[in-house]
Amino acid sequence: MSGIVVVGTQWGDEGKGKITDFLAGKADVIVRFQGGNNAGHTIVFDGKKFALHLIPSGIFRKDAINVMANGMVINPKAMLEELEMLKQGGVTEFNLAISDRAHIILPYHIVLDGMLEELKEDNKKVGTTKKGIGPTYTDKASRIGIRVCDFVDDEVFKEKLTDNLNYYNKIFKLFGKEELNTEAIYQEYLEYAEAMKPYVTDTGVLLNRLLEDDKKVVFEGAQGALLCMDHGTYPFVTSSSPTAASVPVNTGVSPKYINEVIGITKAYSTRVGSGFFATEFDDDVAHQIREVGHEYGTTTGRPRRIGWIDTVVLRHTKRISGLTALSVMLLDVLSGVKTLQVCVAYKLNGEIIDYMPASIKDYEKCIPIYMEIPGWDEDITKVTNFSGLPVNAQLYLNKLAELVGVEVAIFSVGPDRTQTVVLKELI
Ligand code: IMP
Repeated sequence: MSGIVVVGTQWGDEGKGKITDFLAGKADVIVRFQGGNNAGHTIVFDGKKFALHLIPSGIFRKDAINVMANGMVINPKAMLEELEMLKQGGVTEFNLAISDRAHIILPYHIVLDGMLEELKEDNKKVGTTKKGIGPTYTDKASRIGIRVCDFVDDEVFKEKLTDNLNYYNKIFKLFGKEELNTEAIYQEYLEYAEAMKPYVTDTGVLLNRLLEDDKKVVFEGAQGALLCMDHGTYPFVTSSSPTAASVPVNTGVSPKYINEVIGITKAYSTRVGSGFFATEFDDDVAHQIREVGHEYGTTTGRPRRIGWIDTVVLRHTKRISGLTALSVMLLDVLSGVKTLQVCVAYKLNGEIIDYMPASIKDYEKCIPIYMEIPGWDEDITKVTNFSGLPVNAQLYLNKLAELVGVEVAIFSVGPDRTQTVVLKELI
């Protein structure tokens, strides 16, 4: 009866894939519960590098069940390409279960994603990944979405696809966009539906049964809590909720099964896309961090914006996700930075505050208040325990734990599986 949720505490790209893959070694089941191929997880092992967008990170573990839950939006073409990429890399057996209630991303969602961004003023653009995520969740909320169970039933799929394209083609015409051909999409996607069918099941029933049987389940969030539609930096967010609180709704699992919530944070901060980011800076040190940390998007290749670690953000995530432990990633990237800044609070209109204002107008006025911590020069990529870290790196981790009020259970000093130091066993 044990469920552990892996939550990104910042704006995504914190290294959740690495920790999920690490925990997956001891788990029976790995579940992706929201988002789609807007996410990007890089997993490195045995000298091979795999970029996963949709498939749960446990896919490399032969004996683990990988679940794509109902809260996801799935591009079937992208998913099958990912399975093919894995096959090419030598992963040939897939223990995969896809929820019959997840929603399908279709070509019109991708056109709409681009079109809606194009129509916005520059400073209003969200900077989406243009994978059709927002429009697919919009259809879900509008009750015209096509779910996996509809998709694998050719009659239902054809009817819904026809209805939706009748509607969206009118919009495309209005905005001077090329109309999409229903029959051509139907024929192409029928093949994808056939290939997907063997994996489709009611994953809510499956997961509850596995948890009742005392199986260990890792719930893998995509993106980060600050991109949550409800609790993030709205409107510069994604269209789902990557928090631990969303797991029961997004998987059909009872909340009583969530025992641990591990918050993944970089030792600094990054953000891609638009939206204010209080601790952002752009100088030689930011450049150094971007290059050493390979801070370029896995999905879009965009350079990531760099900032200092922000404990107001981490406390916000702790509150909304009930973090029970922290995993601090990319600590090695900070080697050689002379002085580290840690944001402890904000100043808003002359007042010191300890929360993230809901209003973007107010948030943009927040000035970070920093605590300085001296850096270290040593290469720490081969460190295997806490006492092996330079004193200032130890101080940095201890200070983060103290300021956030959550213990550091794991820290990471490099991309490989072996460069993961566990201070407290979580599973
Ligand atoms: P969307 O999810 O493509 O609609 O994009 C909405 C916002 O979330 C944009 O600012 C994206 O850059 C951001 N975003 C979406 N997925 C990720 C991710 O996996 N990592 C980081 N940012 C993301």
